[in-house]
Amino acid sequence: MSRKVLVTGGAGYIGSHVTVELIQAGYDVVVADNMSNCDMTCLEGARKVTGRDDIPFYRIDCCNPDSVRKIFKEHRIDALIHFAAFKAVGESVNSPLKYYRNNLDSFMSVLSAAAENGGCNVLFSSSATVYGEADKQPVTEQSPRKPATSPYGATKQMCEDILQDTVKAGIGIKGMALRYFNPVGAHPSALLGELPRGVPNNLIPYVTQTAIGKRECLSIFGNDYPTPDGTCLRDFIDVVDLAKAHVAAVGRMIDGKMKEDYEIFNIGTGRPVSVLEIVKTFEKVNGLKLNYRFAGRRAGDIMAIWADPSLANEELGWKASRSLEDTLKSAWAWELHLAGKNE
Ligand code: UFG
Repeated sequence: MSRKVLVTGGAGYIGSHVTVELIQAGYDVVVADNMSNCDMTCLEGARKVTGRDDIPFYRIDCCNPDSVRKIFKEHRIDALIHFAAFKAVGESVNSPLKYYRNNLDSFMSVLSAAAENGGCNVLFSSSATVYGEADKQPVTEQSPRKPATSPYGATKQMCEDILQDTVKAGIGIKGMALRYFNPVGAHPSALLGELPRGVPNNLIPYVTQTAIGKRECLSIFGNDYPTPDGTCLRDFIDVVDLAKAHVAAVGRMIDGKMKEDYEIFNIGTGRPVSVLEIVKTFEKVNGLKLNYRFAGRRAGDIMAIWADPSLANEELGWKASRSLEDTLKSAWAWELHLAGKNE
């Protein structure tokens, strides 16, 4: 019998890619999303890519425990992956209560429903943001978590703690937190990808929107950092690789292969890439020139962070494999798809 995974936030950027990879790996998927930060584009893309028009979809707010309970009543859920959260760092600084309320409430209501139902394997979508400005690079899962620099980051740390405490309570919940570095790129089909609302905060959507002419000029925030080319260093993890890490993680949980009831894995490539390198590679692989300029440093940016992914490599049997070139081609193909230019 096939195993069923509930994906909260499954209509969003990462959630929809995970939905595709899970289905392609033979899982049944139930998607829950309140569509507060997306439309149906990515879920429809997931349906097309998988040929599964019947992916069950619940338009619910996970902060409402009754709505989540209903899903557990209607499906036998083997694992749940929780993506349903707000994710804009800057917005979280200006609207902390919105972030604390939504991100904590939704996770607690999902956990409660799972516990009431006799337990579940729970995978939490965490972030490298929990490390803050780390003293040593690359960061391992043992690197200390530094005080969060934004309410968004604080909610990631708190949700990790909530999951760990819930696991410890012995009420049938097993937990895993995957700490993503910088998820980028789109599905090779160009049918799903990142759909930022308004002016993008993140680098890659800003790059693709500048290339297509939606934005006039990309500002590179800071070229005076003590890094090889003066710009910040990040670990850009392809979204399909990232999605595959979830498949491996879910398999480990469902198959009873966890070594501890609560585990944490870094999900990154292990390779630092500079912002300028991204721009140059994007130009090269897509054969275009990007309008960019160097601007001042962005408040709150850390100079460099990249993962030591060896624990995930060994324990999950997972490794990032898509090249940066292919990832940046896919990001551009997705932007073109959105513009209707390659149809
Ligand atoms: N950048 C630019 N110009 C832009 C946008 C970004 O130069 O227009 C630079 C940033 O200054 C930074 C790098 O590109 O050096 C990456 O910035 P992103 O905003 O794409 O990503 P961050 O590393 O700031 O943030 C990511 C996730 C957050 C997470 C954070 C810390 O988007 O969710 O990592 O882990 F909290």
